[in-house]
Amino acid sequence: MPGNPVAAMTIPLPIFCREEQQDTPADGPLRDTFGRVHTNLRISVTDRCNLRCRYCMPEDVTFLDRSEILSFDEIRRFTTVAATLGVTKVRLTGGEPLLRRGIDRLVAMLHDIPGLNEVALTTNGTTLSGMAGALWSAGLRRITVSLDTLDPETFRRVARRDALADVLAGIRAARELGFVVKLNAVILRGINDADIIPLAGFARETGCELRYIESMPIGADSWDRKSAVLAEELIETVAREFGPMDLVEGDPHAPAMTYCTNDGHRIGVIASVSRPFCSQCNRIRLTAEGMLRHCLFALFESDAKSVIRFGTDRELERLIRRVVWSKWEGHEINSAKFVKPTRTMHAIGG
Ligand code: 5AD
Ligand code: SF4
Repeated sequence: MPGNPVAAMTIPLPIFCREEQQDTPADGPLRDTFGRVHTNLRISVTDRCNLRCRYCMPEDVTFLDRSEILSFDEIRRFTTVAATLGVTKVRLTGGEPLLRRGIDRLVAMLHDIPGLNEVALTTNGTTLSGMAGALWSAGLRRITVSLDTLDPETFRRVARRDALADVLAGIRAARELGFVVKLNAVILRGINDADIIPLAGFARETGCELRYIESMPIGADSWDRKSAVLAEELIETVAREFGPMDLVEGDPHAPAMTYCTNDGHRIGVIASVSRPFCSQCNRIRLTAEGMLRHCLFALFESDAKSVIRFGTDRELERLIRRVVWSKWEGHEINSAKFVKPTRTMHAIGG
């Protein structure tokens, strides 16, 4: 209607999305047009970070204004509706989620949502030693810490900040409390490839499961396949040190391929580039300012915040179903069709 300010504000969805919306299922599990059922929600609680990892974000960055980000009650409302649609797992991410004040309170709030059976968190570990106790008390049991190197100088090169000792203290504190800790290591050629074996040794000593991650074209730096150390090379390097490893059968939806050494130690590889796991993907993502994305690499996102703030549960349910139904087949990193999203990782949620 001309002159209607609300209609004028409505941002049209891309054509392909609009066509697909018409037959979005009104009930049943969160299925997309490729038959994938979505049970996993990643929630970014802030785009802020106290590190500047080169594969993730630029040095100079403008963060969202606090008024733009979802409140804990809004996150709870969204997650409660998502849980009624079959979401069973939530992972809190950022930016750096532990920079969000009172994050332990959010963890406790999410634990109370019927239908959710797992709440986990991915952190850079810099402030973990001081917060691990409160997170444990809030019911959290699973933490993933990003750890790309054990060398302080290399840490400065990768993260552009000096915080390795704090991260190591955070990992130790979490293990001492009894957390299940996974370590994520993005390996960049010529920067931290010398850390492949030392990181595996550290993970053994501390009782953590290490996952190497192939670097993906979603950061601020330029990216090419040669700069990423891919799964095959990673596995060969580890096997040279620890002997042949068996692939462990596990959750088909888990992004990591998990291997087991002869003496029973598990090591994972997240091969998003060389062996994309899109066909098994069961994730949706909510950004800190309440945009809903069907994929890390999605080129459009939907404004869930407006629906959380002004809509009914039924409208929120329809939005979630529509976003899942509009999901593409995969990210196309390996094809000429690939388009890098304009947002970098810290702003989407890792
Ligand atoms: N490629 C691969 N992994 C990345 N991460 C951040 N940016 C990238 C990238 N460009 C990882 C971080 C963190 C996780 C949430 O995402 O290392 O562990
Ligand atoms: Fe911060 Fe994580 Fe990005 Fe590093 S990868 S800059 S720790 S959000």
